Amino acid sequence: MSNIKIAPSILSADFGKMAEEVRRMEVAGADLLHCDVMDGVFVPNITFGPKMIADIRKVTKLPLDVHLMIVEPEKYVEAFAKAGANYITIHVEATKKLVPTLKAIRALGVKSGAVISPDTPVGEIEPALEYSDMVLLMSVYPGFGGQKFLDKSLARLEELTALVKKSKRKIDIEIDGGITLDNIAEIKKAGANVIVAGNTIFGANNPKETITALRSRA
Ligand code: DX5
Ligand code: ZN
Repeated sequence: MSNIKIAPSILSADFGKMAEEVRRMEVAGADLLHCDVMDGVFVPNITFGPKMIADIRKVTKLPLDVHLMIVEPEKYVEAFAKAGANYITIHVEATKKLVPTLKAIRALGVKSGAVISPDTPVGEIEPALEYSDMVLLMSVYPGFGGQKFLDKSLARLEELTALVKKSKRKIDIEIDGGITLDNIAEIKKAGANVIVAGNTIFGANNPKETITALRSRA
């Protein structure tokens, strides 16, 4: 048993009954609620914007972890902060204004984070560490839930963990995509402490048991 945080991804929820789905995750023991925002430009899929975050904010006290898969996130961080996000993470590939945007997120009173996609060299996140409360490593190509964990992600996660250690900063290390009961142990060992899971949790017959099992296997 370890002190990981579990963040169910609502991308795998039934959007037609979102409030119920969110409460289901709360009761199941989620630590954060991971909210995937997609614009159809940065990724080949579209989800929702600040209004969904504001509406979810009304029905739960769980911290909202808003993962922005959108180009020029600097244009929208204020709207997501006002909507009630507790964390806002932005992709290093999506903006020319990475550090200023991370600073802007913090100035809005929200925890900030930089994200890297699977083909981005891990070192590209280093300039962002000073301005990040969390870093997120994508272990699938962003855009869709239910994909297979990319094998190279474990080595990349170890590399990221080493960078964070070297920085001597207290930064959460989040991983997102293809996490299951079968790979959680090695993922934890490689340094992640915030675990996003969509299909594994929403697809389970008993999400509470699954979250408990994820914790005990980590
Ligand atoms: C993918 C999203 C993920 C996704 C994970 O672009 O960022 O958060 O929902 O889903 P699973 O856990 O099913 O791979
Ligand atoms: Zn995500």
